[in-house]
Amino acid sequence: MTKFLDLGLHPLANSYLEKKKLNLKEKKFKLQVGFNPKNYLVSIINTVPKEKMFNDKYPYKSSESFTMKNSFWKLSKKIKKKFKPKNLLEIGSNDGAFLQNFNKKNILGIEPCSNLAKITKKKGYKTFSKYWDINLAKKIAKDYKIDLIYSANTLSHIKNFEEIFKAVNISLGKKGILILEDPSLLECIKKVAYDQFYCEHIYVFSSIALKNILEKYDLEIFDIENLPTHGGSNRYFIKRKKNNTYKISKNVNINFQREFKFGLDKISTYKKFSKKVSVSKKKLNHLLKKLVTNNKIIIGYGATAKSCTILNYCKINDSFIKFFYDTTSYKINKYLPGSKILVKKYKKLKVSDADYVFLGAWNFKEEIFKKEKYFIQCGGKFITHIPKPKII
Ligand code: TYD
Repeated sequence: MTKFLDLGLHPLANSYLEKKKLNLKEKKFKLQVGFNPKNYLVSIINTVPKEKMFNDKYPYKSSESFTMKNSFWKLSKKIKKKFKPKNLLEIGSNDGAFLQNFNKKNILGIEPCSNLAKITKKKGYKTFSKYWDINLAKKIAKDYKIDLIYSANTLSHIKNFEEIFKAVNISLGKKGILILEDPSLLECIKKVAYDQFYCEHIYVFSSIALKNILEKYDLEIFDIENLPTHGGSNRYFIKRKKNNTYKISKNVNINFQREFKFGLDKISTYKKFSKKVSVSKKKLNHLLKKLVTNNKIIIGYGATAKSCTILNYCKINDSFIKFFYDTTSYKINKYLPGSKILVKKYKKLKVSDADYVFLGAWNFKEEIFKKEKYFIQCGGKFITHIPKPKII
């Protein structure tokens, strides 16, 4: 693995601080990113033990986002029409935002964060509050041969592929389908979205890297959809190599070629990206400093895990961004890790609140701009760092 990006020391991205803990020293981890020229995989180098990140206090709930709920609903319609699965399993079912689109019978959720698993269970779906692994797959395989396994924004969080794909192979029926969905490395590199890298995002996948990984497990991609979610994601439709039910779509090769053309197989591409990241930091710091010097009030919108990377790497604290608005109940009245900026309960934006609003949740720009039409009409301005720091 060749290191190409060093983002410095960071606290755990989703560990929001209570006021009484503000003075305690936070544990910090090195955030460095590397490229493996053999299989084209991009991953963070120093990983944090999973138990430190995924516990009974995990704050992110998929159901709180209209964009994600809508994306899951559309996919569920497609799955019912095209694959007609008699049973379905989701790895990383979060609060059931995807599963809730299906009848409760023969639907299984797997979610190690017990606070989230509890919500899905309450919705009436059988949910295992466990990590997805070989033991669990064996247990499930006693009762089911799974027709369809889905996993969104989860594979990128799991270090041990071997365990994941062996477990998939144990539980998936011969003609079963695996659908994986994760942020696209191509979009991340193109948009200089270095905030896709934080402790939980161990991998940001390209389709060419995923292809290489799947090969070892006799699995292959037969279709790819490019999605706008999470700043640009890929949805991979995967089958067993021996299963000839589905033809390989031309989209697969189109995606591979696009990535090769961009140079995702070459370390030089990542080195260039790394330079752009340090330019982005300088520009963002310069922009914020200029606005604050001119007595402008800046607040943040969406206290995302991604923001944690930006704020800590660029050393931004509450003398630049007064506070963040966020809709997630768990984050409210807590402080962002490292930067210690307060998260306040979301209120519709007013120009009297702020002159500029830093878009922490830039990946929900469309949804947010629709919601904040009034603020924009009244002259309110946003700041984004994607693809370059600027006022919009
Ligand atoms: P997200 O970008 O999905 O994830 P990550 O934390 O992995 O980077 O997080 C979105 C956050 O933005 C979440 O805390 C909710 C918040 N948010 C709002 O406060 N208002 C909104 O309108 C939207 C869409 C999100």
